[in-house]
Amino acid sequence: MTASEAPKKIHIKTYGCQMNVYDSDRMADAMAPSGWVGVASPEEADLVVLNTCHIREHAAEKVFSEIGRLKKLREERVAEGGSRLMIGVAGCVAQAEGAEIARRAPAVDLIVGPQSYHRLPEMAAAAATARVVDTDFPEEDKFDHLPAPDRARVAARGPTAFLTVQEGCDKFCAFCVVPYTRGAEVSRPAAKVLEEARRLVDAGVRELTLLGQNVNGYHGEGPDGSDWSLGRLLLALAEIPGLARLRYTTSHPNDMDDALIAAHRDLPQLMPYLHLPVQSGSDRILAAMNRRHTVASYLKLVDRIRAARLDIALTSDFIVGFPGETQADFADTLAILRDAAFVASFSFKYSPRPGTPAASSPEQIAEDLKTERLHRLQAQIDAQAAAFLQSRVGQTFDVLFEKPGRRAGQIVGRSPWLQPVHVQADQSLIGRLAPVAITGAHGNSLHGALVASVQ
Ligand code: 5AD
Ligand code: SF4
Repeated sequence: MTASEAPKKIHIKTYGCQMNVYDSDRMADAMAPSGWVGVASPEEADLVVLNTCHIREHAAEKVFSEIGRLKKLREERVAEGGSRLMIGVAGCVAQAEGAEIARRAPAVDLIVGPQSYHRLPEMAAAAATARVVDTDFPEEDKFDHLPAPDRARVAARGPTAFLTVQEGCDKFCAFCVVPYTRGAEVSRPAAKVLEEARRLVDAGVRELTLLGQNVNGYHGEGPDGSDWSLGRLLLALAEIPGLARLRYTTSHPNDMDDALIAAHRDLPQLMPYLHLPVQSGSDRILAAMNRRHTVASYLKLVDRIRAARLDIALTSDFIVGFPGETQADFADTLAILRDAAFVASFSFKYSPRPGTPAASSPEQIAEDLKTERLHRLQAQIDAQAAAFLQSRVGQTFDVLFEKPGRRAGQIVGRSPWLQPVHVQADQSLIGRLAPVAITGAHGNSLHGALVASVQ
């Protein structure tokens, strides 16, 4: 075997959102035909790719410290006479700070932006001799060039899968880098989405989560050439036999149209769970954030969604300590947390991002105040989450089993509302749905017993 034929080992480390998780899988799929096999740790790898997140400052800083660690690993390996470790940076930090990485981290061999993952195999080959950088927004659509994973690869990833249907964002919230790193909104044609969904289901996937930075802004070309909204796309996906569950994330309140709300009423496959970030409960701050909705319009929307699907659980993202946020503004945020009855949230301290309008505001909030508000918000959401979890005890509902549990004889799945559910049952149920009677709640998860036949 010559050096070029030897199996090459890649380790992809994923930071940030679910879109990066999806992208990491697609990068691995793209590398497989060129003889790259995935390995679980950097120590075993010939190439480590950091698939990065740029949304908050600490997320970006983590990348530079990880590069430092990998550089050390490379030096140790060279000292031991081992093969050379290549270091790659992908994702939003690569896109936004490619030049900065090249300057600050000469150890990096390969910098690839999110629109160029289909070029990764040739870039990896070229990076063996010289550094390569590709952070273009290329003419060709990467999705048309990314190879489809084979059945075995999909099956190994379990019964739930992500499927990116939309990328980019045109909303320009005043705190957010996404419109700059991921560019303008682009939706994949419905036929391509349906084809990928069918392939995933054929390989054993039972639950699909459609992904997009602004997923409910989806406007893809329909098979008949007309414009399809997300609601329309969900209707078509729900017709795929064997596809038991659908979810989508992340949505903007202003893009929740009638068709999408009707889908929540009409499609049993569409899970009663919606991540609909409100960010703040103060109209003054929402305006400063350029969110283009108010507290009242948000709560009215929530009423319409709940009228369509009574048992829906709502979750949100929050930013505390946005420039100019007063105690009164923050009290309004705690109020909307309660009024919208959120059952979970991702909450963050405001982090100024270079190039975004809010970063240059003179009204920045002190770090310790942000920390205090974050803790108060999290305490309240934790209490609401615990109450929601407790309200499931005594109910019976379908669980999609995903993997073995930690205890012997146990398997774990997810409820319709995404909580882990632990059951004593045979491993053969993994990948299938079965009704479970919930007997208790513990920490963030539920446990119960199988009640009847398996689907
Ligand atoms: N600072 C803090 N949180 C942010 N988010 C986006 N940008 C920032 C920022 N600059 C949060 C928002 C968004 C989530 C993905 O990340 O709440 O919904
Ligand atoms: Fe960022 Fe979401 Fe606002 Fe788009 S809608 S700018 S992705 S926070």
